[in-house]
Amino acid sequence: MASAARKVHGKRMFQSPYFLVACLTILLCGSDCASGDELRFGDIVMVLQMQPHPYHLLRAHKFREHFEEQISSLPKNERPGLYLTYEEWPEMRGAWTVFPLIPQFIKMFSEKKWIFICEEETRVDIKKVLSVLQRYDSSQDIFLGRELKDKHATIIHHFAFYESPSVFSYPDFGAGLAFTLPLIIKMGAVLREDFSFSIDAKHELALFLKDKLNVLLTPVCAFCGNKEETEERQGCDCATWQPLKFPSCGHPVRAEELFVAVKTCQKFHNDRVQVVKNTWAPEAEFIEYYSDEVNDSIPTIDLGVPNTEVGHCSKTREIIRRTASHENISNIPWILILDDDTIINLERLRHLLTCYNTYQPLILGERYGYGSSTGLGYDYITGGGGMVFNQPAVKKLAAEFVCAQDHSPDDMLIGMFAAREKMLLIHSPYFHQARPEDYSPEFLSNQVPVSFHKHWNTDPYKIYQLLKEGKPLSNNTQQKSTSNDKHIEL
Ligand SMILES: *[C@@H]1O[C@H](CO)[C@@H](O)[C@H](O)[C@H]1NC(C)=O
Ligand SMILES: *[C@@H]1O[C@H](CO)[C@@H](O)[C@H](O)[C@H]1NC(C)=O
Ligand SMILES: *[C@@H]1O[C@H](CO)[C@@H](O)[C@H](O)[C@H]1NC(C)=O
Repeated sequence: MASAARKVHGKRMFQSPYFLVACLTILLCGSDCASGDELRFGDIVMVLQMQPHPYHLLRAHKFREHFEEQISSLPKNERPGLYLTYEEWPEMRGAWTVFPLIPQFIKMFSEKKWIFICEEETRVDIKKVLSVLQRYDSSQDIFLGRELKDKHATIIHHFAFYESPSVFSYPDFGAGLAFTLPLIIKMGAVLREDFSFSIDAKHELALFLKDKLNVLLTPVCAFCGNKEETEERQGCDCATWQPLKFPSCGHPVRAEELFVAVKTCQKFHNDRVQVVKNTWAPEAEFIEYYSDEVNDSIPTIDLGVPNTEVGHCSKTREIIRRTASHENISNIPWILILDDDTIINLERLRHLLTCYNTYQPLILGERYGYGSSTGLGYDYITGGGGMVFNQPAVKKLAAEFVCAQDHSPDDMLIGMFAAREKMLLIHSPYFHQARPEDYSPEFLSNQVPVSFHKHWNTDPYKIYQLLKEGKPLSNNTQQKSTSNDKHIEL
């Protein structure tokens, strides 16, 4: 109660006599009279983050149905507005970082009191959302969400707060987050113009609010991950929750419909490549290892490009050209390119790929951005978590993609190319550029991961075990049991 009161007013109220009064007020009248006039549904704008692919359109429309069912009994002029990002602002880049949306919010919604942003798989009880928001003063700078904390300092957050990473809270976008309009307007006044990386949008947003406006996340128990668990364990009455841990689109893509390309080099033949072979490689029907040295016992293929410590652009480009033109690969619908220290569950990946058609060029994986928060930059699929291409994307890249230099970052250059060519680049939260310990446990507990990356200071065999845990995927008819070396004739 004390912390809620303190945060509601954004000041150190506990040092003043008002603190007691505020506390008493909340105690006496609960949620009904904390903020003067009553909050109405029409004071809230709902914004749904979505992606431009038929599968995601379908999911977004499912959300819309679920939402409209709840508001159908309200008079038209009292309904909360619902805006789907890609439908409302189809040309906007970087909406997923939230920042490019802010000027639009100011332009369109300045008469409203709250903006609530959520994702395709979020589910809401709109009456409960209203009663949560009602507890806070909409004239103050407030930012509400499900609280996530880091257990360890993590590279994906640039090792922020490395002395005690858990002091900083950031919101789980999947549980929805709410901003008061005054806060949105202040954000608009200090939006950054600088080109920088967008890696974990939820952390970057919270850090921006802290650094630029001195506003911290107010954790809301009713914005939930798993509904049953949260209600049972923490006694929260969930107003939002996230029921879907992994998509279910029917029969998985067959093992022979996926070609796997592993980037390695001589230095790692004895360790990383052995881990790949001892863990996930047997799940692959078609797999090739590309190295700077031929070793027939693996076996590796030398593509004749200079090995580079970083970047690998030319190597990736040659892999793409080979897969587009090789008589035994060029008809395989899906191509996965990953590092020798990526750890992946291919069976899950094949379930996921069922959700995506293969007609338009498409690149899938974990989305990062460069300059995306300014609305001018570009997104890219970060290589370490695994980049998935459909064959049309491979064909287009093979024909037209060029590297600035051998060591240019392959994933960023492909992203730049995709942005220029308006190729679909789809984010999937099940891929991870870092290790499990680099993510908030509360965040991970709400999904079924497909990949992680890096062996540094961790045990890749344990990570593989983690990726095989549980049986959330029921119709597992395609599972292959295999010998270790399944190199087909290519
Ligand atoms: C599994 O099969 C059932 C019925 O056979 C179907 O309704 C369901 O969608 C399938 N799930 C997956 C993940 O394929
Ligand atoms: C090829 O790789 C294997 C496994 O890493 C290693 O034991 C062997 O020494 C390598 N052969 C050559 C010729 O480098
Ligand atoms: C493609 O596969 C066939 C049969 O498996 C094989 O005979 C042929 O040599 C392969 N082609 C190439 C270019 O490796």
